[in-house]
Amino acid sequence: MGLRDEIREQPAAARRLIDEGREPIARIAAALREPPFDTIVIAARGTSDHAAVYAQYVFGVRHRVIVGLAAPSIGSVYGVEPRFAHSVVIGISQSGESPDVVGVIAAARGQGVPTIAITNSAGSPLARAAEHSIDLRAGPERAVAATKTYTAELLAVALLSASLSGDDAGLAAIDRLPDAIAAALETEADTERLASTRAGMAGCVVLGRGFEYATAREWALKLKELARLLADPYSAADFQHGPLALLEPGFPVFALAPSGASAPDLIALLGRLRDQFGVDLVVVSDRDDALALGAGLRLPPSIPDWLMPVVSIVPAQLFAYHLARARGQDPDSPRHIRKVTLTR
Ligand code: AGP
Repeated sequence: MGLRDEIREQPAAARRLIDEGREPIARIAAALREPPFDTIVIAARGTSDHAAVYAQYVFGVRHRVIVGLAAPSIGSVYGVEPRFAHSVVIGISQSGESPDVVGVIAAARGQGVPTIAITNSAGSPLARAAEHSIDLRAGPERAVAATKTYTAELLAVALLSASLSGDDAGLAAIDRLPDAIAAALETEADTERLASTRAGMAGCVVLGRGFEYATAREWALKLKELARLLADPYSAADFQHGPLALLEPGFPVFALAPSGASAPDLIALLGRLRDQFGVDLVVVSDRDDALALGAGLRLPPSIPDWLMPVVSIVPAQLFAYHLARARGQDPDSPRHIRKVTLTR
């Protein structure tokens, strides 16, 4: 079992979490309704922090709840315990091990606010520290780079959101995601081809907006750790506030531009980047107009924008995997890093 196997396992892992996790997550959602909370704080690192960014948009857009990303160092380095007041505090970690993330949850629980662990390790320190725990049921993830646990973390957030609002249409759309992930795996030959023709690039930017900002960050992390490519992720809005100056003909710009509220502005921006600066665009989308802007990786249709990040990351994972190989690196053994990183 290697990284590619774990990428390809994602439809089955998603199916398992939906079938076995839906009820336990609904019970946690019911427990959260009383007393009401007004903010959510999430502690996480690395890939799991990108799941937290996804949650920031999901709970913000769908529930009008402000989600703050915890700075665990406030406690672990400065010894200061924030006041969590009327928040729900969530820790996301596939391993459930990192002491700084566990410390945030332990402090929140000590203050009596609701705490939730989202983890692939049901007996981990994070799961033990929290009042509630969501088991991702992704099976052991052995590759250093997180893939199937990332999509499981996003799914757990989506299930929690749909359960909180009694959104049956949302739950039905979630139920279709394993098939959509399987369809996204069909892009593999295209990702291999696009990666092999870009093996010599020195760096790139990755753009997404709203729900897809998490995907941009996660794609960039995968490019860095697997392919050793300097990849800088941006919200498509922030990118226009300065980093635009990086652009010149042939500069690689990777973009997530699926259907949804963020699509019109983003597609207009990508058109401008192509016409005005002559960048080398790789676009992940379900829309013909977006795909026509550059080299395209096609996503399956008819997925609500708030759920698309569970699917859109799949071609990005495959692209990073094949880029690593095209650059002569072993994606199963990224240098300098381990599966579990303990930060304090
Ligand atoms: C993922 O590909 C990375 N290797 C790394 O960022 C990882 O996500 C991070 O260390 C957090 O791990 P955790 O989810 O086990 O807390």
